[in-house]
Order: sequence, then C-alpha cells, then structure tokens
Amino acid sequence: MKHLITINQLTREEILSIINQAFSFKDINTRAIKKVPTLRGKTIVTCFYEASTRTRLSFEIAAKRLSADTINISKSGSSAEKGETLTDTVRNIQAMKVDLIVIRHPSSGAASFISKYLDCPVINAGDGINEHPSQALLDAMTIYEKRGSLDNLKILIVGDILHSRVARSNIYLLKKFNSEIKVFGPPMMLPKDIEKLGVSVIHDFKKTIQDVDVVMLLRVQMERQDRSLFPSVREYSKFFGFSYPMLDLIKEKCLIMHPGPINRGVELNHSAAESPSSVILDQVENGVAMRMTLMYLLLSKNLQES
Ligand code: NCD
Repeated sequence: MKHLITINQLTREEILSIINQAFSFKDINTRAIKKVPTLRGKTIVTCFYEASTRTRLSFEIAAKRLSADTINISKSGSSAEKGETLTDTVRNIQAMKVDLIVIRHPSSGAASFISKYLDCPVINAGDGINEHPSQALLDAMTIYEKRGSLDNLKILIVGDILHSRVARSNIYLLKKFNSEIKVFGPPMMLPKDIEKLGVSVIHDFKKTIQDVDVVMLLRVQMERQDRSLFPSVREYSKFFGFSYPMLDLIKEKCLIMHPGPINRGVELNHSAAESPSSVILDQVENGVAMRMTLMYLLLSKNLQES
C-alpha cells in the first residue's frame, strides 16, 4: 500500500489486519508517557483545505505519539489564497523532503489527483463527497471492539447520504463483511442510484431501528448544498433525527455512532448522544490509534530502508 485513497483498495483481510494493529497502538495512548520512537526523524504535513477539529487533531496527535514532526497548513494563510494550484503546493511541500502528506479537500478526487504527482505516501482525510477511508476504518475498529466481529451486521445509516463521504467509505467497507446496510434520509439527500452500492432505502425509521446492530447518524452537510434540501431544521429533526423515545426501541447491544461534529438536537438529541449505547467518543479515541497505524504502515517500507 503506497497511499490510502479509498477503502476499495483494501481487502477484507487487510482491513482486519489494520484493525488488529490499531489495537496494539491503542495501548500507547493510555500510558503515562504516550510516545514511542517509531517514526522519529519523519516529517508529516497535514493539508486541511476544509474545517476540521477531530480528524486534523487526530492525525497530528497520532504522528506526534509516534515521534514524527508534524506541520499543518490550511487554505487560509497558504499560497492557495494567492492562486497557487494544489499540485504546485504539494510538489513544493514534497521538495522540502517531507515523508507523508495527509490531505482534506472540498473537491472529490483531490487526494487521488495529488498522489499521482508525489513520491511520498498520501492519506485521504476526506475528499469532497467522495471518501473518508480513515474514518470508516476507525468506525470499523469501534464496531469490532464492541461487537467482536464485523460480519453479517445490520446497519442503518441516517441523514445526508448524498453529501457524505463517511457514508460512502463505510458502505464500501461494511459490504466487504456481508453487512445488510439500510439508509434513511430526506429523499433529496439520497443519491438516485444508491441501491447500486448494495444498500436499500427504508421509509419506516422507528420500525427499522428495532432490528439493527448499528445506527450511524450523519450531519447535514450544509456547506455542500447550494440550496436547502429540506424545509427546516425542526422538520428534519422531527422526521430524521434520533429522538429520546427511540432509545427504548433499539436492541440492547445496538451501537449509536456519529463521525462528528454533532449538531445536537438535529440529527440526534442529547439523551441519545449521552446514552450507554452511544460510542461516539470511542470512535474519537480509536481514531488516534487508527491513524497511528495508517501512518506507520505507509511509512514502514521506508523505515526498513533507512
Ligand atoms: C466528517 C467529515 O468531515 O467528513 N467528520 C469527520 O471527519 N469526523 C463528517 C462531517 O463533517 O459531518
């Protein structure tokens, strides 16, 4: 594996082996001294051309825990504002002999595009509405941790599927494990050919929720909509939000997941976010270990060479 651009480049066995490795890195994060020398002398640049709290910090913390040097650049304050192309920016970064570039960009395909111009590994930290592979891997790690397996699960993904790279990467990943995936959301937020991804659209939220192992809630991606795709936030939350009474309907072991950031009171309410079924902060915790693993794996070839 040279870059991590899409979940589809990974086999089921590779995903399980990455998750396994991530559990051993997870231990480091609970020690008093949370640092190992694995990537000492490596330089990692995180290029975030979109807003981010969790993902950016998670990659930075992960790199630092492995003793790599990290630098972040964002669109504002970089030469992108002066009209420099993305390819020129990343080729200039590479000329400074960096070892790995993590990129988040509003254009679908951006990570794949720059990887063709670079010799160093690239990790896709979210490209437009396309994919977010490290998120799907940390989600899978969390499901595996809580359920003991990824096989044959019933999953319900709720919300703005059309604009969600998280939904797409999760669908690609979970389909490799024979999951039954259902989606639910406002009709305007469901891609027309969503069934082609091997998922089915449901219409009865309250009924379906009683029978699933995982419910994944998604934020409405207002920043990717040029017009409002639903009448009002109040209506969205009434028809598509996970509300308090639904907690009584889900199975005891059902996991409530959300990639964050949450809009409390919109896609889920406070009691659902804080309920014992919610693994939202476990996802964040596992995210650091997963990103440590991905950076380690992508750099391990040239670790051996050095
Ligand atoms: C997601 C993203 O940016 O795609 N968040 C994340 O990476 N944790 C989902 C979102 O922004 O709603």
